[in-house]
Amino acid sequence: MKDLAGKHLVLTLTGGVACYKAAELCRLLTKAGATVQVVMSAAAEQFITPVTMQALSQLAVRTSQWDAQEPNAMAHINLTRAADAVLVAPCSADFIAKLAHGQADDLPSLLCLARPMDKVPLMLAPAMNREMWAHPATQRNLAQALADGATLLGIGSGEQACGEVGDGRMLEPQQILDAVIAFFQPKLLVGQHVLVTAGPTYEAIDPVRGITNLSSGKMGFAIARAAREAGAEVTLVAGPVHLPTPPGVHRVDVTSASNMLQAVMAQAQAATVFISTAAVADWRPEQAAEQKIKKDGSGQPPALRFVENPDILTTLAQSPRAQCGALFCVGFAAESHDLLANAQAKRQRKGVPLLVGNIGPATFGQDDNALLLVDAHVARELPRNDKLSLARELIADIALRISA
Ligand code: C5P
Repeated sequence: MKDLAGKHLVLTLTGGVACYKAAELCRLLTKAGATVQVVMSAAAEQFITPVTMQALSQLAVRTSQWDAQEPNAMAHINLTRAADAVLVAPCSADFIAKLAHGQADDLPSLLCLARPMDKVPLMLAPAMNREMWAHPATQRNLAQALADGATLLGIGSGEQACGEVGDGRMLEPQQILDAVIAFFQPKLLVGQHVLVTAGPTYEAIDPVRGITNLSSGKMGFAIARAAREAGAEVTLVAGPVHLPTPPGVHRVDVTSASNMLQAVMAQAQAATVFISTAAVADWRPEQAAEQKIKKDGSGQPPALRFVENPDILTTLAQSPRAQCGALFCVGFAAESHDLLANAQAKRQRKGVPLLVGNIGPATFGQDDNALLLVDAHVARELPRNDKLSLARELIADIALRISA
């Protein structure tokens, strides 16, 4: 199912160069399954035409409270009564000031003031010059708008249309989409701190070679995102992968299993849930050579000696906080066959209440997966789906367990 299926959004554009990005945003929102009613201020119409927004949203754009199309002549009321949220993107400094003061002199400000506050959330994606953003008046007005129930989706930083560099850019359309999707996810893990490991580890043989595996990190990153969407504080300890950090997630990059253990131990005191998704190498070369190992002409390969890596999951599962129930540990098992039996045995061996089995070759690098959740009593199958959907189901399952 699409992430915004069944959602009806009022996308409100106020004045700013970032209006050009609202076209792409509108497209992304509709592709995600939302119906989008666009409303534009007079200033927004200076930057992009209603024709473009109508073509993309497939609905006539509303620009005036005096719109004769409305049978009761009350566009400002009608627009929000069936809406799931109002999203102001771009949201100008002027519009934030209007929100803070309850001004209502055009259709965008009227509909925000007239929306049923308990049913129709208001999300803001501001866009303005860095000096305007940093101005105490803007920050004061924003604080007031947030205190009155608005949600700030975030602010971008970097080069601005005016040529200056700093905070005040509108978030990119994809970032706004992700934030809107996250907003609608059930907040099942508020107050929890979730620590996730993801990706492979890399065990050096010499400065240019090492041993690693085919884990892409996608499952662990999806779990970190889903935990954050559910309202948790999230720390993601990632092996060497090239994946973007999910919004709002604190990321620590590591290389080897020993690095990963160190990073995990540094975060473990604060964590209430540990999800060990990483494909940690079981062994590492006993001693990484300081210089590149050369062929010596004898035709004999070098003899490598291996030692076992620390088991991060077992270390945490045996810690006093896990033993007394303050830290809920979840393991993963990537198997090639006999998933249920192997997962059950691994759960007991690792000493964790929940173990998630998956078939290694069917998940490594893929965008979808299938999971088998095994606890002391039952096994529950999560059928093949994209990794983010599976991650959300897993998070819902964990939330139930820790609240029980
Ligand atoms: O023993 P095996 O590698 O199959 O166990 C898989 C589970 O244990 C995963 O949750 C993995 O993240 C974790 N693990 C670990 N440290 C290791 C090896 C595995 O945390 N050294």
